[in-house]
Amino acid sequence: MSDRLISDVVSALEALTRQEREAQRRLNMIPSENHTSPLARIALGLDSGHRYFFNTSNDPNSWNFPAAREASRVETELTLPLLRRLTRAEHVNVRTLSGLQAMALVLSALGGGPGTTVISIHADQGGHYATAGLARRLGLTSVLASGPDPHSLDLDALTTLVARHRPSLVYLDLSHALFPLDAEAVVAAIRAAGTSARVHVDISHWMGLVLGGAIPHPLDAGADSMGGSTHKTFPGPQHALIATRDAHLAAEIGLAQQEMISNHHLAVTCALGLAAAEFLAADPLGYSRQIIASARLLGAHLAERGLPPEAAERGYSGGHQLWVDSARAGVDADTAARRLDEAGISVNVLTDLPGMQGRPALRLGVAEPLSVGLTTDDMPLVADLVTAAVFARRPADVIAEHVAALRAARVPRWRLADQPQIATILRRLTAQEYAA
Ligand SMILES: Cc1ncc(COP(=O)(O)O)c(C=O)c1O
Repeated sequence: MSDRLISDVVSALEALTRQEREAQRRLNMIPSENHTSPLARIALGLDSGHRYFFNTSNDPNSWNFPAAREASRVETELTLPLLRRLTRAEHVNVRTLSGLQAMALVLSALGGGPGTTVISIHADQGGHYATAGLARRLGLTSVLASGPDPHSLDLDALTTLVARHRPSLVYLDLSHALFPLDAEAVVAAIRAAGTSARVHVDISHWMGLVLGGAIPHPLDAGADSMGGSTHKTFPGPQHALIATRDAHLAAEIGLAQQEMISNHHLAVTCALGLAAAEFLAADPLGYSRQIIASARLLGAHLAERGLPPEAAERGYSGGHQLWVDSARAGVDADTAARRLDEAGISVNVLTDLPGMQGRPALRLGVAEPLSVGLTTDDMPLVADLVTAAVFARRPADVIAEHVAALRAARVPRWRLADQPQIATILRRLTAQEYAA
């Protein structure tokens, strides 16, 4: 074996070790990311990560991929029942690997044949950058719904658009958005056109808030289906789900899924079930409400310290994220983000946020800070640390030590592994894995 190969592997392992150490010391405020518990992660490193699982009916004669048999029970007996409960939908598909792949599946399954029109949300109102292009790649005609400002859709115009284009599907994809969709009003506007358009709400960024109960549920509002990433406001592994109460739609989605996805990563769906259990055990309504309250409070405290986020007149946020045009406060966004990074705080710099006319701005969120144990009461301190870093009021390494001390002082929210029966079996599982 070459020394070079060994030293490359050592370097790789050192990088992973540094990543772990840093992850424990830093405050990650990237709104697209979250923190899963060690319990939820356990399945990712086990044999389930090598297996295919197709026999969803558990037919004893259909185990043509029998190696998955035991782990598959986690998907069918934990993940799906818990997600049916959380989504309040009888039909849940957990076979898409990410939000964008779930989007591709829904556009393909419900978008109609080539030439059919699909309406989605204009990027200027927070629609996802990829939706229109993806629809066109599938041979669909993309039409975009827009609104009078970065945070609203024009509902009368939406009704007219649906009546004129008679889309097979209206795909409501709110991505770069500070405020949730008023799903009931939007669905009513679509139905008012009197067509048979189906309505799918992509809640990638809002999953934890919808499943927790802090914002209205799209299926209760009359949408036909909803779905999206499981790793933004929902503290699951990087994956996606699609939920519907309509058996016929579920069958259409299932058929398209079989043709588009063969390996759905069984280990990740096991992790998703364990994350769903953590979520349910730790006051989902409280978590989802605290996310919104924390984002709003952080916004107010940042403003007080000279770094006002957008949408002050609407309370800064109705979800998990804040947008800050730091250049208005005298520090350009790239410099601000670099200073935050050096101080142990991760944020995004984006140039495509609605209403910012292409100006680079900071995007920061509170879902992961709350997952790692911070609370709404910590937001004044977080605002202190963020502004101290952005305005270089204190040396970055001093702030980074403060951030690390804050992380060390807080206990992550997801704590099922502390339950004695769970702790015992986890110890056994880990010992067995290392013995193997
Ligand atoms: C509405 C919407 N759909 C899809 C995606 C893509 O999700 P993923 O990164 O999990 O593929 C996002 C990500 O921000 C999103 O906001």
